Amino acid sequence: MHVILYILLGLMAGSALAASDPPSCSTSKSCPKEYPCCSEGTCGTGTYCLGGCDPRMSYSLDACTPKAVGQNRTFSWPNLDNAALNTKYLGNASESDWEYSGSPKLKDGNIILTMPKNSVGTLVSSTHYMWYGKIAADVKSSRGKGVVTGFILMSDVKDEIDFEWVGSDLENVQTNFYFQGITNYRIDEILTAHLKFPDTNGDKLSTSDNTYSSWHHYEINWTPQAIKWSVDGTVKRTLTKKSTWNATANRYEYPQTPSRMQLSLWPAGRASNAQGTIDWAGGEIDWNAADIRDHGYYSATFANITMECYEPPAGSGDGHRSYAYLDKKGLESSVLVTNNNTVLPDMGHTGLNMGTGNSSSSSSSGSDSGDGPSTTSTSSKSGSTEFVQYANNAPGQVPQNVWLAAVVLLFSMIIS
Ligand SMILES: *[C@@H]1O[C@H](CO)[C@@H](O)[C@H](O)[C@H]1NC(C)=O
Ligand SMILES: *[C@@H]1O[C@H](CO)[C@@H](O)[C@H](O)[C@H]1NC(C)=O
Ligand SMILES: *[C@@H]1O[C@H](CO)[C@@H](O)[C@H](O)[C@H]1NC(C)=O
Ligand SMILES: *[C@@H]1O[C@H](CO)[C@@H](O)[C@H](O)[C@H]1NC(C)=O
Ligand SMILES: *[C@@H]1O[C@H](CO)[C@@H](O)[C@H](O)[C@H]1NC(C)=O
Ligand SMILES: *[C@@H]1O[C@H](CO)[C@@H](O)[C@H](O)[C@H]1NC(C)=O
Repeated sequence: MHVILYILLGLMAGSALAASDPPSCSTSKSCPKEYPCCSEGTCGTGTYCLGGCDPRMSYSLDACTPKAVGQNRTFSWPNLDNAALNTKYLGNASESDWEYSGSPKLKDGNIILTMPKNSVGTLVSSTHYMWYGKIAADVKSSRGKGVVTGFILMSDVKDEIDFEWVGSDLENVQTNFYFQGITNYRIDEILTAHLKFPDTNGDKLSTSDNTYSSWHHYEINWTPQAIKWSVDGTVKRTLTKKSTWNATANRYEYPQTPSRMQLSLWPAGRASNAQGTIDWAGGEIDWNAADIRDHGYYSATFANITMECYEPPAGSGDGHRSYAYLDKKGLESSVLVTNNNTVLPDMGHTGLNMGTGNSSSSSSSGSDSGDGPSTTSTSSKSGSTEFVQYANNAPGQVPQNVWLAAVVLLFSMIIS
């Protein structure tokens, strides 16, 4: 959950601020046509229509771009060429396996997420989505109170399956899940309670030793029937779909929609966060700790990251390239596998006017790359596709980052 805020902060980074009010969005208020895509409560175009665009709150179901279908992969990091800055990524998953904010680094072929002093850390998201399957990685978590490392699955309607390492407790890894971002605690409890676990869906798993100094292998196996969290090859927690039935809502409150893999390192113990979050994270961050003094940042390292995608549920369409939503319920039955394009020509465009770029969802086969008409994508590599150009294209309208700033400000006011 907490990762969301840092996606916002990441989006803001590197963009200058200007003034005005953002159209906001929620399940009861969809975005207007000019800014049709809802990401984290704010409407916009471009980046807003890509990963994280919530079809339930957007102008229409096709405002958000379709999302690239994943493949069975082991990700290696010879360099960072396969990772695009999140403010530049336009949806071509053949070109970039990952999009990121913050400062990822490489060492010995592994990816290191860093969090320099007073920063909001690093977030790396796969550009491919998985609709049931298995993700795994060898991880050395970060350490220190307030410092949280994450390895999660997150869908565009905010279904979420988590591993989280709290830097003040290196003998355990925490697991959690959310259905459409619904938390099982009341807002007043977050603000006032000093809870070890702010959410009743959470569960702590013990590791045999220190998660910072020792590598451990973590795996999430997600099927339509159950989620299993494993550490070093042993299943330590199982959640069945059956157990999540909510008779009042008449639905399974179980993660069930295509999800991205996300790696994160973030400052849960930042002084401006809610007290409940700071307490959960073991206290306020020490920005003068040994890791900061010796290296200039806190860090977490990921190796051997894999994604294995299961066959989609029966009757979900005969496409193989991209996922689209058919209705706003955000359930398994709302998703269709299509062959539609996933790439925007530039940041001013949206799912409503993306053209027929028809990208390949594959980054390893290469066989179907670039086989479609690409007339709309010629401007996408020019480097002039950021918010500034968007503002020029739409005179009198507001760059999205301003709204992001407002949302983040509002959010930090609410939680602090
Ligand atoms: C990936 O592996 C799974 C088995 O774990 C298999 O069912 C599936 O067909 C594979 N997907 C692709 C795209 O090869
Ligand atoms: C079940 O759904 C109802 C209606 O949406 C909701 O108020 C309630 O909190 C849910 N129950 C649980 C245990 O999540
Ligand atoms: C990654 O996998 C390789 C091959 O199985 C293994 O030799 C190596 O130790 C693993 N790396 C880590 C950091 O566990
Ligand atoms: C796929 O693209 C076609 C052509 O642009 C469009 O008519 C259709 O609605 C799209 N399908 C989905 C499920 O978004
Ligand atoms: C993209 O190409 C595939 C086949 O290559 C086709 O089935 C699909 O309809 C195309 N989508 C659009 C939106 O043109
Ligand atoms: C996506 O990237 C691949 C690899 O660089 C390229 O061949 C293809 O034309 C791109 N597709 C679009 C629609 O831009």
